[in-house]
Amino acid sequence: MDEKEAKKEITRLKSDINYHNYRYYVLDSPVVTDAGYDRLMRRLEELESKFPQFVTPDSPTRRVGAAPLEAFGTLKHTFPMLSLNNAFSVDEVADFDERIKRYLKTDPGTDIEFAVEPKMDGLAVELVYEDGFFTAGSTRGDGYTGEDVTQNLRTVRTIPLQLAPDIRKKVSPPKRLEARGEVFLPLDSFKKLNAEREKKGEPVFANPRNAAAGSLRQLDPKVTAARPLDIFCYGVGSVEGAEFRTHFESLEFLKSMGLKVNPFAKVVKGIKAVLEYHEEMEKKREELDYELDGVVIKVNSLELQERLGVLTRSPRWALAYKFAPKQESTRVVDIEVGVGRSGALTPVAVLEPISVGGVTIEHATLHNQDEVDRKDVRVGDYVVVQRAGDVIPEVAYVLKEKRPAHTKPFHMPDKCPVCGSFVEKDGAIHFCTGGLACPAQLKESIRHFGSKRAMDIEGLGGMHVDQFVEAGRIKDVADLYYLGKEDILSLERWGEKSADNLMKAIEKSKHPTLERLIYSLGIHGVGEHMAKVLADKFGDLKSLMEATEEDLLATHEIGPETAASILDFFREKHNLTVIEKLKMAGVEFPVKKKKEGGRFAGKVFLFTGGLESLTRDEAKDLIEAGGGEAAAGVNKKVDFVVAGAEPGSKLEKAKKLGLKIIDEEEFKRMAGK
Ligand code: IVH
Repeated sequence: MDEKEAKKEITRLKSDINYHNYRYYVLDSPVVTDAGYDRLMRRLEELESKFPQFVTPDSPTRRVGAAPLEAFGTLKHTFPMLSLNNAFSVDEVADFDERIKRYLKTDPGTDIEFAVEPKMDGLAVELVYEDGFFTAGSTRGDGYTGEDVTQNLRTVRTIPLQLAPDIRKKVSPPKRLEARGEVFLPLDSFKKLNAEREKKGEPVFANPRNAAAGSLRQLDPKVTAARPLDIFCYGVGSVEGAEFRTHFESLEFLKSMGLKVNPFAKVVKGIKAVLEYHEEMEKKREELDYELDGVVIKVNSLELQERLGVLTRSPRWALAYKFAPKQESTRVVDIEVGVGRSGALTPVAVLEPISVGGVTIEHATLHNQDEVDRKDVRVGDYVVVQRAGDVIPEVAYVLKEKRPAHTKPFHMPDKCPVCGSFVEKDGAIHFCTGGLACPAQLKESIRHFGSKRAMDIEGLGGMHVDQFVEAGRIKDVADLYYLGKEDILSLERWGEKSADNLMKAIEKSKHPTLERLIYSLGIHGVGEHMAKVLADKFGDLKSLMEATEEDLLATHEIGPETAASILDFFREKHNLTVIEKLKMAGVEFPVKKKKEGGRFAGKVFLFTGGLESLTRDEAKDLIEAGGGEAAAGVNKKVDFVVAGAEPGSKLEKAKKLGLKIIDEEEFKRMAGK
């Protein structure tokens, strides 16, 4: 293929992909299969790698790829990004209507034409397109200058990198367009993001708006790209090469350019219709996948807008009519503790039922013990609850002045309320250690157990797990190995062949490596890597199960929290029963040979005091690389005590036990350094 042909095909591919993106993301009505789309993308990638001279920034292959920034630059808005006056009552909206008529000297009986739109609760941005290409994007900032978040906005799929993507319509883009809109995080993405953060012990976002702002203001565009942000454009800041008579026409224009405009925007006449729209949207809001905090009312005629002008920082021709607040006060009747699928314990306030923004609330999440402590929520307290992001209601704060006498601070239970297993704390999160047997965690533990990198049971998809658990066929992971073909066939959608295949896959999984076996147990804090570390160190499951805290802490990379989590896991009778059941079912518990023949094979070292030329971790690495072990405390098994500067009481003890004491130099010599 020569250059000319390549260039032509690249141009065609880009325009096709751009169109399919638009159909998929903006219109939500794709006209190509996923496989067909992937083929186009792969072909484009292939050509671009062969002919890098034709790679342009608007290429759909270049949405994510910019390097992380040190800090954001700034961008000036050609026209200031104004804010809106707020109204909270019918009277205030009527005042707005009257003010307009008085100002324009229109007959009070005439109905003004308004464009009405949902008020999205996200953050305002400006998108700049030059000759149809997305060239810059910024936040509102102080209204005059915003932050340059171009690279992050490029990752938002509903922002076209090139205008007029609809190849069926022969529209050409304007010379320059500054479009304005609201970037937001859809509610389900917000929920997912917070669930992940909670699992990792990271602070959760209070609401979708904060999550959207936090996601857009990431210095690394890859982080932004992983958060499925979305946008609705609601206005034109300025345009060269197009003209409109009304605000609604400008929205139609944005739409024709491939930008996403809220489908509920419309034109109405007179204040009565505005109030009806507000009522309608307040109901609609409950069904939407994004947050609204009101409706925006704009005088539709641009000529009238011009005459009305701007008052300090908000226009006289627009108003935000807010919805009823989603905060109310009520009393905490009890604090219950729920157990999530991952085993995390969540305190939940049981409330005297209260209607918040039209929905009755009886429970509110308190997230975790740290949050309860921070807000100091107690049974009997009067609290303000809010529906954060229309998701799970939460306790915003306590009305301390109304606190009754004799309330007590809340403490997490030390046993799982579902299965009675021990409760362990990791960061901010308390979790149940009965991972293999706790009913609350059953589906998740089976899914993890059968997953590709654990026991790798092919065909045990997420839906099947639900099916087996809900039909009562599996009560713990070991039950998988006791399933008969008849059990499988008795469930819906299973046939001879698929049942046979699953039986085979289960049988095949009976011979895991030791690391996979350890990983599949789902011990909190033991991921794939840690499973390998444990397999290398202990060599078989029994030794790991019998390991003491000291043994675990002496293992490089294992800190006190992971050690405690492992100890608790194997202390838990429920888990031991399941492990025994696995063994009885014929699951192999392999033995892994420890490293032998190293210079430190079988030798145990203990450090006390500071080392000069090595960190403790480096020293531990040296020992483990040589097949030796690093101990955490003084005991008779220690072969060498390495005494550094200012050794502590360990040295005294070691001397009493008559252990061999060496210095750092000697240790380095032994390690061949
Ligand atoms: S118009 C002068 N329309 O609300 C007009 N704003 O409180 C200024 N917003 O900064 C904005 N949905 O972030 C407009 N349909 C909508 C909107 C909207 C949400 C946000 C926007 C603005 C803030 C003003």
